[in-house]
Amino acid sequence: MTSNSTTELDHLLSRALTDIAAADDSAAVEQLRVALLGRQGAVTTQLKQIGAQPPEARKEFGAAVNRVRDQLTDALSARADAVLAAERQAAIAAEEIDVTLPGRVGHSGSLHPVTRTLRRIEQIFTRAGFDVAHGPEIEDDFHNFEALNIPKNHPARAMHDTFYVSDETVLRTHTSPVQIRYLESHTPPVAVIAPGRVYRCDSDVTHTPMFHQVEGLMVDSNVSFADLKGALVFFLEEFFERDLPVRFRPSFFPFTEPSAEVDMGCVFCEGKGCRICGHSGWIEVLGCGMVHTEVFRQVGIDNEEFTGYAFGLGIERLAMLRYGVDDLRLFFENEISFLRQFS
Ligand code: PHE
Repeated sequence: MTSNSTTELDHLLSRALTDIAAADDSAAVEQLRVALLGRQGAVTTQLKQIGAQPPEARKEFGAAVNRVRDQLTDALSARADAVLAAERQAAIAAEEIDVTLPGRVGHSGSLHPVTRTLRRIEQIFTRAGFDVAHGPEIEDDFHNFEALNIPKNHPARAMHDTFYVSDETVLRTHTSPVQIRYLESHTPPVAVIAPGRVYRCDSDVTHTPMFHQVEGLMVDSNVSFADLKGALVFFLEEFFERDLPVRFRPSFFPFTEPSAEVDMGCVFCEGKGCRICGHSGWIEVLGCGMVHTEVFRQVGIDNEEFTGYAFGLGIERLAMLRYGVDDLRLFFENEISFLRQFS
């Protein structure tokens, strides 16, 4: 072997090792592999020279070229492994989630003031032993009127601005039909409240075509007007969390006798008189009375054995008084800034 060839090999080896050490990604390492060991590669070219050596130098040269090839093969594969590992590490680092970053703030909703008020009413009455019942919003004439002692052509029908679905079907104008439905399927003693939507063809500052009522009904063997009064005063005091003057005014409902409307001292002016209470110092909050004998007759309950009381209150009205809202329509406009105040 000529010293010339050996020097060339030494140069090739040291240059290749430097290049391999400098290759900093998989593509660069692969490029070097092809340039050195590929079919036209520098080392391959040297291998092809073995046969061209004079016979006495052939063996030594061949061994030297093979050593260079093996050394470079090892160096390339070690470098490829190292570069790949570094690349994986970099990829993982790039995907890392910084758990110390502040999170996105979610928007949480809140209960509608009518829902909040209803839940509060339900809570007070269920604590006092009342069940909660529901009835259909599309109601037949019998349950909405007839069985409540409001026959066809009775002037009391004019009190209800009824939406008729057909001659015999209406959108219920109050929750009182649930009294009838409940008594059709339960035998006294009963104590129940029935909340829900009701509909009247009426719309101004204090009326919306749909609003919510809670009906109350208590039937037992010895229920008196004093029980009714006690229950309602208890309820109003619990609901408003204060002692408010309450008064019962004689009134008329076809399905109760005697009947009364209940007023309470105006929460806005403490009874002094203001725009909200029409300068009377009083605000009407509900209607009530002793269950009419005709109602009991309609559902087959013995008038001699049982008496009962019933009441109906408007949820929006109570919500307005509790939260100091003076326009009923705010409850139905779904203005987000209004609703947020109740979260
Ligand atoms: N249903 C009556 C109304 O809507 C309220 C009421 C219920 C009155 C029960 C007396 C007894 O006006």
